[in-house]
Amino acid sequence: MEILIWRNLLDPYDLAVKELITKFEHIRYEHKARGIYCPIEQVTGRVKTISSILDKMQKKKIDFSELETRLEDIAGIRIICQFVEDIPKVVNLIHERKDMTIIHEKNYIDHVKSSGYRSYHVIIEYEVHTMDGLKKIQAEIQIRTMGMNFWSTIEHSLQYKYKQNIPEHLKEKLLKSSEAIVLLDQVMSQVREEIMDAQNSMQLQANLISEILNNIQNLYKVANNREVLKIQEEFYEIYLQNDLEKLERFHKQLDIISEGYRAQSLNFENEEVT
Ligand code: GTP
Ligand code: MG
Repeated sequence: MEILIWRNLLDPYDLAVKELITKFEHIRYEHKARGIYCPIEQVTGRVKTISSILDKMQKKKIDFSELETRLEDIAGIRIICQFVEDIPKVVNLIHERKDMTIIHEKNYIDHVKSSGYRSYHVIIEYEVHTMDGLKKIQAEIQIRTMGMNFWSTIEHSLQYKYKQNIPEHLKEKLLKSSEAIVLLDQVMSQVREEIMDAQNSMQLQANLISEILNNIQNLYKVANNREVLKIQEEFYEIYLQNDLEKLERFHKQLDIISEGYRAQSLNFENEEVT
């Protein structure tokens, strides 16, 4: 048996987890910037600890030589969604990507585990660049709702506490609560459109306000102080009315004013040259 340098083995997985988190967070960022509802609510990730790798190898009789092929979750990403309906959307997003290849999928939402566990798992192949060159690794992406996540976090702690032998009365409670989570997710789905609308306009308003304030700040550099002050006061007045349409109109007007100043300063520069 060769000496296994864990650091060398795990470093590419660490890189993959960091890259994948960044990529999924960027999807969130893009949606937010455009004021579009994002099916991804939160992204986390971790590299499996050495002790839990050793545990799993022992449990599943995995030899060191097959460690990287048979352990699919050394790199693990968790994507939390608000609604069950978001889950297939996230799966689609992964399907469409050129930088991740899906090896297989496990649908524990339609095929609930006997424990009551629900989640959608996608196992991908992902390429990382290291000093030793390109390396293809596997990563497990778990996609679930906030409710499902709440349940599995609690259940996981109990599994740990009872060393996988959770007493029957607790198992029953867990199964019941897992059904309660399904109900909760269903009710949330019923008000989904309303929640999405509210969140979208909240985001749109936040984007508009930051653009307007940015514009005012830029105007401050080129325009007359008194005029900028007037614009700022006008902004506060409209802001207090809490009317998205009015804010949008104000933003457009402000754009025209800024454009005017830009044209003026360009003329001025041209005059200087000639
Ligand atoms: P392990 O369950 O980890 O031994 O792997 P596996 O090869 O059997 O794959 P499976 O798809 O069953 O599980 C992969 C991962 O899903 C696990 O590592 C857990 O994070 C999660 N998971 C699976 N089943 C359960 C469960 O009953 N409860 C909780 N809390 N998590 C689970
Ligand atoms: Mg399992």
